[in-house]
Amino acid sequence: MQATAIAQPNIALIKYWGKRDVERNLPAVGSISITLSELYTEVSVELSPDLQEDELCVNDEESQSMLPRISRCLDTVIGAARLRARVTSRSNFPIAAGLASSASAFAATTVAAAGAANLAYETEILARLAGQASGSAARSLYGGFVELKNSADTIDLTALRDVDSWPLQVVVAITEPGPKATGSTEAMELSRETSPFYDSWIEQQEQDLDIARAAILKRDFAGLATVAEHNCLKMHSVMWASRPPMVYWNSATMHCMQTLRRLQGEGCKVFFTIDAGPQVKAVCLPGDAEVVGQALTETPGVQKVMTSGLGPAARAVDKA
Ligand code: PMV
Repeated sequence: MQATAIAQPNIALIKYWGKRDVERNLPAVGSISITLSELYTEVSVELSPDLQEDELCVNDEESQSMLPRISRCLDTVIGAARLRARVTSRSNFPIAAGLASSASAFAATTVAAAGAANLAYETEILARLAGQASGSAARSLYGGFVELKNSADTIDLTALRDVDSWPLQVVVAITEPGPKATGSTEAMELSRETSPFYDSWIEQQEQDLDIARAAILKRDFAGLATVAEHNCLKMHSVMWASRPPMVYWNSATMHCMQTLRRLQGEGCKVFFTIDAGPQVKAVCLPGDAEVVGQALTETPGVQKVMTSGLGPAARAVDKA
């Protein structure tokens, strides 16, 4: 009745922003991501007849704030009539700060919950279950380059390319390690309800997905860079034009973008992407990771830089 799983966060190159069904947490658009290797969340789930309530411990501290979402995730995977659980989670990077911690946390929780309840689900089923807790978590059930497609009543996931066949590097510049002000569900709904750009964002997504998918299949770095930056800035434009506006960036976020523009001008193969937080993720070819890491470390306002390769799918691990 106990199982442990590890999942890596993933970074979207073509973003998921907006829901077509809030109740079932179905995304309004498809997305394409890369799963990282160096960042991880490890989750243990222990089901016990001795517990009256679920318990959650995050990085050695009891957490009440995340507990309802974790409990709902366990209900989704195991069923609401399940035993109560003791859930222990540990991440090696700041959580809830726009670093995709919910993706790795819910991917790992889903795999650990299925393991604890002895449910042998296929990866795609696990991905759909994880996606009900956090849309981006579905993608962390796969490694390397991953596409999430909307289909009639659900989501379909495809591994576009494995980790080794195009070993890009991601340099994450952390400009503010604290938790973000607005969670993504609330922010997406605000965008849908108030942003004048929301509809065109949704309309153009298929085209961006087609361009990015083709670039990944051809290993066309310049093509991927152009569409990924464009898609990221469009998502943030939707947020900025919402009422009230949602600006997740700080001044260091801008400084990082300027640093990366300068490096691009010097011939460096790098592009940026930014999620619902002020951190900047610089995606680059392996030979350029060192110079990108150094330049971002020296950028005003950057507090920490983490470099990662592309990583594997979420998986169960043995725990003595
Ligand atoms: O999965 P959520 O609900 O945390 O939303 C993720 C939203 C973005 O990170 C901004 C984009 C994405 O595709 O990961």
